[in-house]
Formats: sequence, structure tokens, C-alpha cells
Amino acid sequence: MSRLLVVNTSQLVTLAGPARPRIGAELRELAIIPGGAMIAEDGVIAAVGTRSEIEPQAEDAEVIDAGGRLATPGFVDAHTHLVFAGNRADEFEKRCAGATYQEIAAQGGGIRSTVRKTCAAREDQLLQAATRHAKWFLQGGTTTIEAKSGYGLTIDDELKILRVIRRIGQTTSLRTVPTFLGAHEIPEEYAGRADDYISLVTEEMLPRIADEKLAEFCDIFCEAKVFNLDQARRVLSAAKSHGLGLRMHADQFTSFGASDLAAELGAKTCDHLEQTQPASIAALTAAGIQPVLLPGSVYAIGSHKYPDARAMIEAGLAIVFATDFNPGSSPTTSMRTVMSLACTQMKMTPAEALTAATINAAYSLNRGHESGSLEPGKAADFVIHDAEDYRELPYFFGDYQAVAVFARGLQCIAH
Ligand code: NIG
Ligand code: FE
Repeated sequence: MSRLLVVNTSQLVTLAGPARPRIGAELRELAIIPGGAMIAEDGVIAAVGTRSEIEPQAEDAEVIDAGGRLATPGFVDAHTHLVFAGNRADEFEKRCAGATYQEIAAQGGGIRSTVRKTCAAREDQLLQAATRHAKWFLQGGTTTIEAKSGYGLTIDDELKILRVIRRIGQTTSLRTVPTFLGAHEIPEEYAGRADDYISLVTEEMLPRIADEKLAEFCDIFCEAKVFNLDQARRVLSAAKSHGLGLRMHADQFTSFGASDLAAELGAKTCDHLEQTQPASIAALTAAGIQPVLLPGSVYAIGSHKYPDARAMIEAGLAIVFATDFNPGSSPTTSMRTVMSLACTQMKMTPAEALTAATINAAYSLNRGHESGSLEPGKAADFVIHDAEDYRELPYFFGDYQAVAVFARGLQCIAH
């Protein structure tokens, strides 16, 4: 048996608490153990407590000395577009000169330009690109991500992307939770025939993907000029009948009832929500849906309209923060950057931001039993940061790399 003893932390932020996502004032309860220590056995947390409680139980353990630094659970990123070819630095330059994200999309750029490059790439090339992205996530202290397909838009290319997502979970230390996002954009060859493309998604793609167990969730980009409510209902209902959980890109640029549909269909999460109206917040609360908020995408497209996180917390929603890592609207893998934006732009406290980036995110991926907090029985996914106090995580902004990252008790990053 391999046994690990973590000692000499400044704070061991455990996020221990009720076995469910945290709401209201619970979002500020981090269950911090000053100078805390932890034992992990074969990659699973065995004991957590003060150093004097824990050290005597840890005979023969390999000692990890945190050097008086902060230790937290690994971040859980509940919304990413991990697998794509190339990047869109060219469009970024155009946006810097005044073009908007939507104007670029309307001219055939945006998601479609990444689809062209991703379809042209072989599976091994995509695996190489995704491995590079996975390393960025791990270096920043993220140990679990949700990862969506959606830059293929043909059966073969969507399957290719989902297989790469699975391979990343097998060949790197980053845990991946796969989501099928075949309805991310209307493919060029289906221009003016979005309903026909939706039939391809529901009748051919979904059965194949469910059959090969390549996804746990299904998502759709429900937005003006992309997919409407009827089309979203068709895709999500079909996904549900195949046993997939539901997520939804909703209310990003326009609000026309997408989040209400997510509530009606019992989605697990509803993501973006920049334009969500108070009545829809109430519908999400009544349906027990977790909002996944993506401030990195608001920042990076140069918008100022962040989701109303305070109203959502007040309503009792178990909010989640995620990067939305993608080559267009949110080219960042940094959960610390997302937490910083949550605090400065959305008036979250650092504690609320950390809860939304760990335990609440884990529950939104059906991983609350194994990730998101440091409690006995859970995976030993933890991070030692170059900080003493958890509030420094969003306070120092920019891309800070973690000092050490452990996934299932194995060190995968050392700086
Ligand atoms: O979540 N909104 C749709 N999808 C992504 C953007 C994808 C892209 O621009 O490539 C998002 O923001
Ligand atoms: Fe997204």
C-alpha cells in the first residue's frame, strides 16, 4: 500500500460539509484546518485533521512537506471545450480592432472556423493538442474537467473528439467527464436546414454515442441564429431518453426562454446565464438546477454584462464557476483567473468563489462523492499553492502555477 502524509500547511482548506452542493451562507464555509494534515492511502484520503491528530497515525508514510503553504482540493472545471485544433488569435486581433464575436461568427468565422480545422485534423493530432491543453489545466491546479465535443459536427468527427476526451482521462492525470455537444453550431453544409441537422444529431449521433458510452452528458448552444427552443427540446429530450444528463448553453447573448426549458426538462446545469431574467432564476431554483457561470468568456469577448451571481445565491442556487476554455470566447484554463473575475466583477467573496470552483462543480458533474473536497473516502486530488491564505488565490491575478499538484495521490506537477 502506498501511504502519503501531507504536513506543514498554512491552511488545509477541506471544503468538508454536507454531501450535497452548497447554497446560501454555506458557500462561505470552507472548513479550514489551520496547519492541517492529511493521510492518503492508495490515492484515497484516509484521514484529515490537525497535525498532532494525524501525524501519529502515519507510520511508514511518504511525507509531503507543504513548506508552510496553502493546500486545497484540486479545482473542478465543469465547462470546457478541451479538444480543438489551432487557435483563433487572428479573430482576437479583429475583435481588438472593434469587430464583435457575433459579427465574426456571422461572417463564417467563430465556431465554424475551429470546426474546419478540427475536422481536418487526425485523431492523433487532436490528442497531441488536447494533451498540451491538459497540461495547462494541471499546472494551474485543476484535476477534473468536464469536456465537450462540438467542433466536429459530423458523426465521425464528433466521435473522434469524444474518443480524444476519453484518451486524455486515460493517458494524463487530468480526469475528464465527457459531454456530447453535437448541436454547437449549424454546419456550413446544413445552412438554412438546421432542423435536418438536428435530426442527424438525434437519430444518428446520439444513439451511436450512447451505445459506445462516449458521453455522460448532452449539451446544446441554444441562441439566436444558432438553435432555437424547439430544436433544443428535440435534442435534450432525445438525450434524456438515452440516459444522458443534460447541460445547456443558455441566455448567453439573448434571453428567450432557454433557461426555462432547462428547468422544465430537469437539466443538471444551465450554463452562461449572462442575460437571465429574475423569473428564470426562480424557475431554475424550483427545478434544483445548478448554474455554471463563465466570467472568463464575458471578459474575453469584451462584454461587461456578467451573470447576476448575487441574485442567484440569494435565490438559493448552488452556483458553479468554470473556465469555458475554448479558442473563441474564453481562451483560458485558469480557475484562479475565473475566481478573480468572480470576485472583482461579480462581487463574490473569495470563499464563495472557491466553493463554486470545487465542491459545487464536482456535484454538477455527478462527482460529488469523489472530488471537490478533502474528506476521507474521496480521491486524494489536492494542490499546494504558492500562497498562505486562500484569499490570495483570486487576489493575485494572472496565471499562477501551482507549486505541487496531486491526482489520486500521485504527484503530477512539481514547480
Ligand atoms: O461557451 N457559446 C458557445 N460556445 C462557446 C464558444 C465556442 C467558440 O467560440 O469556439 C462558449 O462561449
Ligand atoms: Fe461553452
